Amino acid sequence: MPNPPNHRPKIVVLSGAGMSAPSGLATFRDSGGLWANHRIEEVATPEAWERNPQLVLDFYNQRRAQACAAEPNAGHRALAELERRYDVVVITQNVDDLHERAGSTRVIHLHGELTKARSTADESLVYDIGAKPIHLGDRCALGSQLRPHIVWFGEAVPLIEVATEEFRDAAKVLVVGTSLQVYPAAGLVEYAPAEAEKVHADLYTEHCPFGFRALTGSADQLLPPLVQRWLG
Ligand code: APR
Repeated sequence: MPNPPNHRPKIVVLSGAGMSAPSGLATFRDSGGLWANHRIEEVATPEAWERNPQLVLDFYNQRRAQACAAEPNAGHRALAELERRYDVVVITQNVDDLHERAGSTRVIHLHGELTKARSTADESLVYDIGAKPIHLGDRCALGSQLRPHIVWFGEAVPLIEVATEEFRDAAKVLVVGTSLQVYPAAGLVEYAPAEAEKVHADLYTEHCPFGFRALTGSADQLLPPLVQRWLG
């Protein structure tokens, strides 16, 4: 007998680049990852934007094209299926839209979204651009240059309080495909309720947070059986 909709147990997922790796998108800190081929200081900071906006636009235009050409994998689809029986909130560090394209309906992007651009004069002015590149000279309604709607290193993470609140009543917490090296996102694992079922799914178990059960392997292999178990 399915739970009535307003009493569905809550699952909070914290995902990172390893979630999208099986879809062919590079992670950041694995060998050959994005930070092995680009210097963060040159493409992912406000200073980089001031110094060389074209280089920054090129970096995100390339990642946007790759992300939009990628397909959700079995891990993304499994998480979307969870919504049949659970109230699922996906809190992701990823800036691709693979969770949404797989069918997840509540996705919080802590580090922004590639498919959006925003004004450099008023950060509340955000535009859906899909797979389109941003060029120098592309301007917002106020006439200022558009920038990627991405949280750069050194910038605030506006949705961190909203994300923290989501952990309060979680019956299950799943951390998948993240090295847990970047704060404040990584600090969210501390808010997993003691009594919640806590699972960490990653290629490596070294950084499995205290109190979490470690599943070792690839997200697209680990999540479908885990979700089938949770759907009973
Ligand atoms: N399945 C599961 N986990 C995987 C897979 C896979 N197929 N491939 C890689 N991983 C794991 C790695 O073992 C690692 O723990 O995914 C994690 C990737 O770590 P990072 O590259 O550091 O990515 P992430 O944790 O998402 O980075 C966080 O750092 O640079 C910033 O803003 C950027 O959002 C990013 C943040």
